Parts: sequence; C-alpha cells; structure tokens
Amino acid sequence: MRQAIIKLALGYLVALAAASPIRRRSLNNNVVDEFENIDSFPNPSPQQLLSTEQRAHGTLSNSTPPASVNPDTIISLQVIAAQEQFEAAFFQQLLTNVTNCEPGFYIDDIDSRDFTIKALTAIVAQEELHALDAITALKHFNQVPVAPCLYDFPVSTLEEAITLAQTFTSVVLGTLQNVVVNMGKNGDAALTQDITSVIGQEGEQEGWFRLLNRQIPSELPFLTNSVRDFAFNALNQSFITPGSCSNLNDITSLQKLHVMQPLNVVKSFNPSKNKDEIIQLSFQLPAGSASTDFVVAYINQQNVPFTLPYTKVDQKGDDLLVHAPFPYTEHKLNGLTILAIVPASAAGSLTSNQAVADNTLAGPGLIIVK
Ligand SMILES: *[C@@H]1O[C@H](CO)[C@@H](O)[C@H](O)[C@H]1NC(C)=O
Ligand SMILES: *[C@@H]1O[C@H](CO)[C@@H](O)[C@H](O)[C@H]1NC(C)=O
Repeated sequence: MRQAIIKLALGYLVALAAASPIRRRSLNNNVVDEFENIDSFPNPSPQQLLSTEQRAHGTLSNSTPPASVNPDTIISLQVIAAQEQFEAAFFQQLLTNVTNCEPGFYIDDIDSRDFTIKALTAIVAQEELHALDAITALKHFNQVPVAPCLYDFPVSTLEEAITLAQTFTSVVLGTLQNVVVNMGKNGDAALTQDITSVIGQEGEQEGWFRLLNRQIPSELPFLTNSVRDFAFNALNQSFITPGSCSNLNDITSLQKLHVMQPLNVVKSFNPSKNKDEIIQLSFQLPAGSASTDFVVAYINQQNVPFTLPYTKVDQKGDDLLVHAPFPYTEHKLNGLTILAIVPASAAGSLTSNQAVADNTLAGPGLIIVK
C-alpha cells in the first residue's frame, strides 16, 4: 500500500513535468455545460439519483428532517448549496480534463491516471449528493435553493487544480464548524449529525489533495475555523462569473451575509523559502479614508483572532499595496490562515471570527503553510 501511494505521488511528478503549455477554458456562458456529463444535476430523476449514489459509493440519508428550522439555519443551508454546487462543477471539469488528457492534466503513469479518475469520479458524485442534501432540506423547509451559476476556475494544470481544491476545501472545513455552532445555538442540533459527517468526508478528500502535493495528510491538530461570510465571499469574488446566477439576488438569506471587497495576497509566505515574515496584500480603500484607518486581522487554527498594522508600499487612487507582518514563528501559523482588512478603530473588540467577518472591509485573503 505504501509503495502504491509513493508510486502515485511519483506518477504526478511525471505528469507535471510533462505538462503542456497553458490553454484556458473558454467561457461559453452556459450553466448547463458546467455540469456536462452529470445527469440532470441539480434536478436528477429518481433513476439518475440512483446512478449518482452508485458512483458516490453511498446514499443520501433516508431520515426525515424536522418540520421547521431557525432562519439562521436557512443561511447555512443556502451557503452549503452554493458551495457544493460549485465543487461538483469544479471536480466534474477536473475529471473531464484528466480523462481527456487535456494539456497540463496528462498523467503519464497509467495506474496513477486510473486511480485518479476513480477517485475523482467518486468525489464528483459525493459533492453532488452534498449539494442535493442541502437543496432537498431547503425545499423541505419551503425555501427556493440557490441555483447553480457559471464558474471560472483559475487553473491550467493538475497541480494548480489540486492546490486550489486544497484551498477551498480548507475554507469549507472551517466554515462547517461554524454552521454546526450556529445550528446548535439556534435549536437545530437535529441537523448537526449530517453536517459533521460531511466535515469528516471533506477532511478525507483534503488528506488526498495534500498527499498529491507531497504534504503530510493531516494539516494541523485543530483545523482553522472560518465563518459563512468568508466562505461565500470567496466563492462570489473568485469563482462565480458575475451575473451568471439566475436567482442569487432573490435569495434573501444570502443577502444577510456581510459583503466584502476582494483582498489579494500578492506575495504569500513559505517558511522554507522566506526568512522575512512579511507578506504583500492589495485592496481598495473606501473613498476618503486613510491607509492608517485599517489593520490586518489574522484567523488561524482555534485561536482567538489578532490584528496588526501594515505598511503602505504604494497607492494609486484608492488601490493600496501594503506589506503586512506574517508572524509565523510567534503564532505558529501553520495550516490555513484567513486574513481580513478591518477598521483600526474596531481592532480592540474583535474577539471572535464572526466579529472579524462582520467588520471586514476586504477579505478573505487565504494563506496555507504546509
Ligand atoms: C480544465 O482544463 C481547461 C483547459 O483545457 C482549463 O481552462 C480549466 O480551468 C480546467 N478546469 C479544471 C477544473 O481543472
Ligand atoms: C456578489 O458579488 C457581486 C459582485 O460581483 C456583488 O455585487 C454582490 O453584492 C455579491 N453578493 C453577495 C451576496 O455577497
């Protein structure tokens, strides 16, 4: 078994070395195409659902949800539906790329390629069932689920795709913690068993992505926490093609999330390459404000968030480029760190990750230290 895993990892190296020049997918503005080869997802017939369950190696739960839930739980279910539909589309496209040996996605070693196709086939179907689980629950609670959108996946090689999958899965693994906390607080503990089963499942996927990136499978003793606002803003800013979601603006639960400006991590941190614990960030200042009006907030593992000032490097109009400290040694910032630009005046009161999100001007910036 160990030899097989090493061989698989080596297979990837060969694939990456043989990767051909970049060719970007053309956007065809057809949401149905995002789910090419997925049977009528997200509205499968009973027969199609059966075949999805076969590929997923398991079934949707046959238990009945409670008759009603707290409105806050609807926010969680809509965020999950949006996220899981995006993931199903991403992994379906990745599976297609690997199966068709697209440039950049060619895996030389035939055993490694077969194993990857087998694993991705299961992951696509499992993500579909995660989405259908949330969608079915929303319908049960008489809510219109958020419809699938057109997505842009900024990846051109298998390595980039796996790294991106690792990053968005980290955010999901943090956000589902918050979903469980909110359900518990709002009297909906009945739904938490299902959610926690998905946390474990996504953790298994994450272990595989990490292994493919030659990282040890388990990232941290306690995974970084996130909140729904960060997860949805990351999805909306980076992957959803603007204007492509048929009903996004009608989903009032999603409008309750705090809207953030993008925060670009221009230069990240890698302890084996960078001695200076400094990162570069860029974002837009609100008109009329000074660069010193804001600071950076850091969310890592299960620790209380902290904030630090940044240094202005360049400013063109409202576009700001800054150097920010990344106190890796002092705070042991391994795994996922979520960065957010928050008002300096609020810094003293940001004792929870939700408080950081509620006060965020620009975010989330995502850094993963192996
Ligand atoms: C699939 O490959 C195309 C290039 O052929 C690329 O543009 C697209 O981003 C890839 N998608 C995924 C999810 O790997
Ligand atoms: C999603 O992003 C668009 C910009 O593309 C923005 O106008 C909208 O407010 C965002 N929606 C939410 C719910 O964050």
